[in-house]
Amino acid sequence: MWKSATRSLATAALVSAPKLQDVVIIGGGPAGLSLLAALKNSHKTKHLKCTLVEGSNLDPIRDFGMDPPENYTNRVVSLTPKSVEFMQEKIGSWDFINLDRIKFYDGIRAYDGQDNSSRISFDGTTTGSGVLAAMSENINIQSSLISKIEQLNDEIIDEEEDQPAIILDNTKVIDIEDPLNAQHTHSHSDLNEIDPSAGDEALDWPIIKLDNGEALQARLLVGADGYNSPVRKFARIESRGWQYDRWGVVGTIKMQFEDYRALGWQRFLSTGPLAILPLTDDNATFVWSSTPELAELLLKVDEVIFPHLLTAAMTLEEVDLQYIYKTLQNNPNDRSVLEDISWRLSKKDISDLEENYPLPVTELVPGSRARFPLKLSHADTYMAPRIALVGDAAHTIHPLAGQGLNMGQSDVGHLVQALEKGVDRGMDIGSTLVLENYVADAWPSNHMILGACDKLHKIFAVQWTPFVYLRGFGIKTLNSLGYVKDLMVQTISGK
Ligand SMILES: Cc1cc2nc3c(=O)[nH]c(=O)nc-3n(C[C@H](O)[C@H](O)[C@H](O)COP(=O)(O)OP(=O)(O)OC[C@H]3O[C@@H](n4cnc5c(N)ncnc54)[C@H](O)[C@@H]3O)c2cc1C
Ligand SMILES: *[C@@H]1O[C@H](CO)[C@@H](O)[C@H](O)[C@H]1NC(C)=O
Ligand SMILES: *[C@@H]1O[C@H](CO)[C@@H](O)[C@H](O)[C@H]1NC(C)=O
Ligand SMILES: *[C@@H]1O[C@H](CO)[C@@H](O)[C@H](O)[C@H]1NC(C)=O
Repeated sequence: MWKSATRSLATAALVSAPKLQDVVIIGGGPAGLSLLAALKNSHKTKHLKCTLVEGSNLDPIRDFGMDPPENYTNRVVSLTPKSVEFMQEKIGSWDFINLDRIKFYDGIRAYDGQDNSSRISFDGTTTGSGVLAAMSENINIQSSLISKIEQLNDEIIDEEEDQPAIILDNTKVIDIEDPLNAQHTHSHSDLNEIDPSAGDEALDWPIIKLDNGEALQARLLVGADGYNSPVRKFARIESRGWQYDRWGVVGTIKMQFEDYRALGWQRFLSTGPLAILPLTDDNATFVWSSTPELAELLLKVDEVIFPHLLTAAMTLEEVDLQYIYKTLQNNPNDRSVLEDISWRLSKKDISDLEENYPLPVTELVPGSRARFPLKLSHADTYMAPRIALVGDAAHTIHPLAGQGLNMGQSDVGHLVQALEKGVDRGMDIGSTLVLENYVADAWPSNHMILGACDKLHKIFAVQWTPFVYLRGFGIKTLNSLGYVKDLMVQTISGK
């Protein structure tokens, strides 16, 4: 009796004793995995003890590397050449990407829904490489990052010197405590027992409580934990922004045939921008920003009708579209719409269609439609003592310029750079002196991109005629003003 009682007490004490780590990353999305891989791939930071905690199961992502699904998944992003270069040079994860499922494309043709003569082209030639950006599934990126982390772990010979990266998936963070404020914290002597080398230092390290009963204590806690970021809330960092009252409806589609043009297409409709972006062969993906009512309809419309509706939305006049929506609102399976659409399309000038519009959409991959609420948010800062935020935890953006994931890559680049500098100078990497460099490098450019996309959204969501006229005029002027356009291309391509 007596013996077993002490043993269970001892076990309980062991379980609740926080494990000290240099860096704890919450979130196994693209941002969190990129940070872990980049830290472990840098000879300046690879000695740091790093643990990543992810609430969901990462097995499907691990499996993707060996056995990818037949069709494209519907979470797809546009990667800038800068992000690709970062994954090639700094993270070294690009070697593990499934290149058969990456589509490099050369340009975007954007045009106005209410004035089809106002057009603007963004081309990769301005960036020097000839490539504007690359389309990739989120899961392809995440899977390549996990493979890179596993490779780096496998290469470790001396586990004392080079710490393997630890990924705890299926593990949720349920609470974060500040040991200086919390009531039931471990006494000073407790901490010294766990790791005497940590000394007094660990006294102010945040304690991360996991749903498996264990706890971690971090010299630096990084929130890569997405829009609702528990880390940001713990750090009491204010995040400002608004919901757009718009949804992004996405899905995987087939075009009539493979388009040699390798272009993305974007039409600014009054309900929001609609983009069709190329994937390999005749595969493509769409992002359709819509009002709540339209988004609901788009998810309901019969799978046979949907591809034709998408073609119509890229091509027909907005009044015609409104009429088609109304018919479908009465009955989302009303196939008489198909005849109506083909009749309206038949009245268009074929050579204009071939030259200035995407190919017709022929198929929707069954079950591939999904919707996401669109919002803009930006944290006031990306740091607090022993805390840093990266990716969607720090900012969310309208998908119209496809910048969300790329901004996260740029955050990770700046954070790793700041940490390397800190290590070089023998500083505590959780200290505000080190983290201030990160915020100074990352925040202002993100703020600029967020502002520009927000303004674009607002300009194009307006239906008031004089404004539409001005906006068309604006697009044309912009298109002829090479200098201004180059700046925009530089933003899209990240160069
Ligand atoms: C419709 C749409 C289209 C988009 N198109 C593009 C595009 O073309 N180009 C582009 O660059 N970006 C695009 N984005 C944005 C892009 O998808 C996101 O920016 C990106 O996924 C953010 O990555 P992240 O790692 O920061 O966050 P997330 O992917 O949100 O990852 C956060 C992770 O944290 C985990 N987590 C959260 N809380 C906890 C907890 N308590 N415990 C444990 N784990 C936790 C979550 O499980 C999640 O895995 C688009 C977004 C949308 C909605
Ligand atoms: C894309 O389409 C082609 C031909 O239709 C197909 O062979 C290819 O495997 C597809 N790729 C993916 C990932 O679906
Ligand atoms: C472009 O707009 C004009 C005027 O509204 C219209 O007559 C023409 O058919 C449109 N072209 C296409 C391809 O929609
Ligand atoms: C893949 O896409 C094709 C073409 O849309 C479809 O016929 C097939 O059922 C899809 N396969 C799966 C597993 O979803």
